[in-house]
Amino acid sequence: MVHIDLRQVMVTFPQPDGGEFLAVNSFDLKVEKGEFVTIVGPSGCGKSTILSVVDGLIRPSGGEALINGKPVTGPGSDRALVFQEFALLPWRTVESNIMLGLELQHKVPRGKIEALVSHYIKMVGLQGFERHHPHQLSGGMRQRVGIARALAVNPEILLMDEPFAALDAQTREIMSAELLRIWEQEKKTVLFVTHSIDEAVYLADRIVVLSGCPGCVREIIPVSLSRPRNLEIKDEAEFVRLRRHIWGLLEQEAQRQAGGRAGS
Ligand SMILES: Nc1ncnc2c1ncn2[C@@H]1O[C@H](COP(=O)(O)OP(=O)(O)O)[C@@H](O)[C@H]1O
Ligand SMILES: [Mg+2]
Repeated sequence: MVHIDLRQVMVTFPQPDGGEFLAVNSFDLKVEKGEFVTIVGPSGCGKSTILSVVDGLIRPSGGEALINGKPVTGPGSDRALVFQEFALLPWRTVESNIMLGLELQHKVPRGKIEALVSHYIKMVGLQGFERHHPHQLSGGMRQRVGIARALAVNPEILLMDEPFAALDAQTREIMSAELLRIWEQEKKTVLFVTHSIDEAVYLADRIVVLSGCPGCVREIIPVSLSRPRNLEIKDEAEFVRLRRHIWGLLEQEAQRQAGGRAGS
């Protein structure tokens, strides 16, 4: 079943000089329910803008964004956005940061919130840190709080915008393995933006490679690697082939952009 359906989505931003800047052009993508789709592409090619359209923060200037066949009219509790900056409230504890979304949602009765929060704290491995404040945690732990907060509101769709970009390489690998485990357990639909080609391949059912044309789909690549995956999969021939292929596409993009700049 198609969960997220982006049809010829176009986004323009007003410019200070009164003109319009085309950030996303004719973006087409259908994401199945429960699918894990990663998005890679050059900086400024419209990746975050596309997530904002799905989240309902930005209205497309053309085309349409549908969820379960209905047009997106604004943010909703069926979707949660996770950024790289964690966006935790520094004065709240781990526990109360995770509670935040549930409190705002007013859907879960007060008495059940605590049980839910402790379920997700356990799921992301933060038992014992419930009363800690964000400054007392490592980057990886803060990001786990962000993920637990997003999951606690039980969204059908997780939108993740370079969520692991601020983490060191090793924590990042641990977090992606963790995310796959949670995804396999919770069966969410995930749209995940990353700059890391390895992360894009390791996580995905399909990889969307964007070009800076702007925000056009360059290629959509199915990933046939078996699941569940572990980090050893990165040595498999298919993984290596996909990595090389995506490198090639992004390299061409970089050259095209450099050529464009030199010519302009
Ligand atoms: N609110 C905005 N107003 C004007 N321009 C914007 C706005 N948001 C993004 N842009 C521009 O749109 C393009 C795409 O941005 P973005 O989606 O953030 O790219 P990415 O996430 O792929 O790096 C960029 O050139 C950016 O400068
Ligand atoms: Mg971005």
